[in-house]
Amino acid sequence: MVEDLRLDSLEGVGPVTTRKLSDAGVHNVMDLIVRGPVEIADITGMEKDTAEKIVNKARQHLVDGGVIAKHFTSASEIYKHRQSIGKITTGTNCLDTLFDGGIETQALTEVYGEFGCGKTQFAHTMSVMVQKSKEEGGLEGSVLYIDTENTFRPERIVSIAQAHEMDPEKVLDNIIVARAYNSAHQVLILEEAGPIIEENNVKLIVADSAVGLFRSEYLGRGTLSTRQQKLNHFVHLLSRIAETYNCAAIATNQVMASPDVFFGDPTRPIGGNVVAHTSTYRIYFKKSGKKRIARMVDSPHHPEEEVIFALGEAGVIDPEEAEKKTKKTTKKATKATTKKAKEPEVEATVDTLEESTETPEVEATTETPEVETAPDVETVEAPSVDAETDDSEPVEE
Ligand SMILES: Nc1ncnc2c1ncn2[C@@H]1O[C@H](COP(=O)(O)OP(=O)(O)OP(=O)(O)O)[C@@H](O)[C@H]1O
Ligand SMILES: [Mg+2]
Repeated sequence: MVEDLRLDSLEGVGPVTTRKLSDAGVHNVMDLIVRGPVEIADITGMEKDTAEKIVNKARQHLVDGGVIAKHFTSASEIYKHRQSIGKITTGTNCLDTLFDGGIETQALTEVYGEFGCGKTQFAHTMSVMVQKSKEEGGLEGSVLYIDTENTFRPERIVSIAQAHEMDPEKVLDNIIVARAYNSAHQVLILEEAGPIIEENNVKLIVADSAVGLFRSEYLGRGTLSTRQQKLNHFVHLLSRIAETYNCAAIATNQVMASPDVFFGDPTRPIGGNVVAHTSTYRIYFKKSGKKRIARMVDSPHHPEEEVIFALGEAGVIDPEEAEKKTKKTTKKATKATTKKAKEPEVEATVDTLEESTETPEVEATTETPEVETAPDVETVEAPSVDAETDDSEPVEE
């Protein structure tokens, strides 16, 4: 490992250049790699040649230290380097099977799907799981959580931590939340994240949602290219940070309806090709009644596969867990009903409500033709494809 990441540890980088760089938010050698020569020249006003030289030196420094791979590497060296990639368990058997062990470091994992499908719950769960010990499938690392929709809930973290028998206070302490107020702020947070990642042993970066702010700020066809350009900058930055700092990155993304799709699923992720091309792994979450389906859509080495999972107090959970819980509640409800038969007065309404939630009926088939999970009430609440369905959404090619 490289011990010295200070800018002035690079040959030829003196105090003046160091100041110029740190004034522009570039604080160490890693930041130089993450931002790249074009951006460095842009933000410091340096000549492009000079910026290229400095970035090349930084790269060499990290190659010498074994942090990043050489330009020309044998496949066996890459294979060896890939052994250093960490995996974070999802805490469930089903999703771990899908991910072949868990979410990888040095990669960007995009999770997309309609509202309420569990993207934020998944992000919360992973923020807890990454803190587990290595023996238990974690990385003993902390989290940088970029919250763009104000949906980060410490209460959920507490429940998830408790369900996994972890100390909720410690778990909360290890999550650094950055609330992004607009897309420029969202980018800035990431640009300045280097020292925070380094000092806090951050092993997971979450951007939830990665795309929402860009979408709401750049509306209409005329602004599409600017939006995609800026979004592209953000996701590339995220992906480079994940690679350079050996941490995992999760970017969430909603889907919108595509009126031009006649067969199959009429939705597509909002970030379009920009996020898709930058992500190493893409997972599609879909509602299927109370259950959820996760599909590995794009991966360099996973088969395209689907698994069923569920959401609960413990975050994302195995469907069997959810069934166990349902059975318990059903039992309780039955007991209560029997009791009620003897003493027919109190709490009748509560029981009726609980029971009616259990009763399966309606139209899951319309929404999810491929899975035969028992349809249920939730589908009724959310029959359409996307809350944000917006016919004027410009379509990117
Ligand atoms: N404590 C809990 N116990 C069980 N399920 C929960 C709990 N909290 C939330 N959920 C489930 O999570 C769902 C919401 O999921 P989530 O917020 O992750 O959706 P999302 O994909 O992030 O949606 P959006 O696109 O709107 O951000 C709820 O509909 C509910 O089913
Ligand atoms: Mg969400």
